[in-house]
Amino acid sequence: MSFAKDARAGLTASPKTLPAKYFYDELGSALFEAICLLPEYYLTRAEDEILKQHAGEIVKSVGGTFDIVELGSGSALKTRHIIAAALANQPTLTYRPIDISTTALEASAESLSREFPALKVSGVAADYFEGLKRISRESDGRRLALFLGSNVGNFEPHVAIAVLRELRGVLAPGDALLLGADLRKDRSVLEAAYDDPLGVTASFNLNVLARINRELGGEFDLDQFDHLARYDEPNGRMEMHLVSRQAQTVRVNALELEVKFAEGETIHTESSYKYDKPTLRALAAGGGFDLVHTWTDSAKRFSSSLLRAV
Ligand code: TRP
Repeated sequence: MSFAKDARAGLTASPKTLPAKYFYDELGSALFEAICLLPEYYLTRAEDEILKQHAGEIVKSVGGTFDIVELGSGSALKTRHIIAAALANQPTLTYRPIDISTTALEASAESLSREFPALKVSGVAADYFEGLKRISRESDGRRLALFLGSNVGNFEPHVAIAVLRELRGVLAPGDALLLGADLRKDRSVLEAAYDDPLGVTASFNLNVLARINRELGGEFDLDQFDHLARYDEPNGRMEMHLVSRQAQTVRVNALELEVKFAEGETIHTESSYKYDKPTLRALAAGGGFDLVHTWTDSAKRFSSSLLRAV
């Protein structure tokens, strides 16, 4: 689906919503990189700590020689640890990142190839489902799939299972999946991670409206919307919204659409599900995997799990 179609569908739905993948245009991707540098946004650093600490062990548990497929690679900073550990065991390595952002793919391919001459990078610019369809097996060795960050958390649990099944489809029995998942924790820690005092996260969220203005002739006044991040504890998910400060009607010219907002009405832009042992195990099993081992960072905020395709 195109941005125009998805924006129309989301803005005319009730409650209103916009798909999270549209955060990541060039500006949005840069803002997300900035989020990862915020002291409050612990996720990236926690995962980096785990992978740095345990990459050797992880690569050993995968076993033999393998190639790597990654969903949503972004800047592939954390992937470096796994690539380095793999190349300590095998002379060459094929790396196939799938990412919606062409800019991020090109930048990471270039710097990874420079850093690891024995690495063959071949990126796919697409969303996950489309990208996985384009990935074919290039070697007879094992395959390690990477699904890092809190990417899996951005799907509703039943969709997360469907994505894992899809991933399972490009793997053979015995192949591995390294899965990142943020852990359930205190509300104050979570809400601070998604609503920082510098306002970077608010800008990131609002950028999706700015993007509608830029690309679809939207007339959103960004000052008339607030960023809202709240933890829905019973469902274990952070919810991100854009809240209309007042009753207003916004034209989106390329869609020939007028969108009416009540005061306080929200556009739901993303959910970020947080996991624990039981929900992780259910996710793995639903996707067609055994949960082999889960590592956490020293503060036990984030998890990396090695799953084995059954
Ligand atoms: N995938 C990120 C996460 O769930 C995305 C993210 C970070 C995000 N901060 C946000 C999405 C704020 C929307 C609004 O952690």
